[in-house]
Amino acid sequence: MSTQAQLKPQKLDIRPLTGALGAEIYGLDVKQLDDATFDSVYQAFLDYSVLVFRDQELNEEEFAAFGLRFGKLEDEPFLPNKSETPGVYYFFGAPKDGKQLSTQKLGWHMDHSYQKNPSLGAILYALDVPAVGGDTLFASSYESYEGLSPMMKEMLEGKIGVHDVLQYGLNSGHHSIGTEKALLTLAKMRKSFPQTEHPLICKHPETGRKMLYINKAWTTAIKGLAENESKALLDMLKEHSLRDVYQCRVRWYNKSLMIWDNRCVQHSPNSDYTEQRRMLRLALHSDWVPGEEQTAGH
Ligand SMILES: [Fe+2]
Repeated sequence: MSTQAQLKPQKLDIRPLTGALGAEIYGLDVKQLDDATFDSVYQAFLDYSVLVFRDQELNEEEFAAFGLRFGKLEDEPFLPNKSETPGVYYFFGAPKDGKQLSTQKLGWHMDHSYQKNPSLGAILYALDVPAVGGDTLFASSYESYEGLSPMMKEMLEGKIGVHDVLQYGLNSGHHSIGTEKALLTLAKMRKSFPQTEHPLICKHPETGRKMLYINKAWTTAIKGLAENESKALLDMLKEHSLRDVYQCRVRWYNKSLMIWDNRCVQHSPNSDYTEQRRMLRLALHSDWVPGEEQTAGH
């Protein structure tokens, strides 16, 4: 009899974070999930979009193993600090000379929406985090779609958003463009990730729920509109999509583990801290192309 078969299904203690999205799950050791319990966790992942597990004791391999239950791990060609475990990266938010790193200023985004098939999700594990600060904020793309007026929903149906890694990188201060080396890195990113297009309204490939598929960082234009029209409409939609009623906020403690469904949320790492912050990170690959109706993932 395998170890897996000897494990008893564990009951989920799910505590929602807000009325919009997010939940903490208590009473689980994520290293010890039998298949039935994992199925319940996966369903909670689809239901709440963001899950947090506290007090998890994980090494790099166990962290990767938890990720692999959700899907394939995605390579991050431009993320530094690869660990020795395939697919796992160290994520540092360390102060430099008492100042915050520029990488902490990314703000609201969806990971890799500038790819044809954006990430399914990402998982973070807190190794050593400041006592206060560095919360991660999330906003539900389901709720922002639901919150649009019927006429706006109708107007946006079938319209296409342009996603671009370069424009926000240049305009937001997220990437340094002060040196030739930094500019060359941005140019390389742009070459790896050409501009791509996704529908503004699309369905989640597993839940089938409709979403307002935009994010503040990488959605840079609406196809077919004049530049001023596109900017005005996108600015309004971005502000709408980040209304506080569509959000939750996750506080970090050492040994907290968090996963989010990158297909239906925007997230924002808050940079209100100056102490050392070390995490493990992995990204989950998805074959889903927004706008295509095939089922992908689990
Ligand atoms: Fe991110």
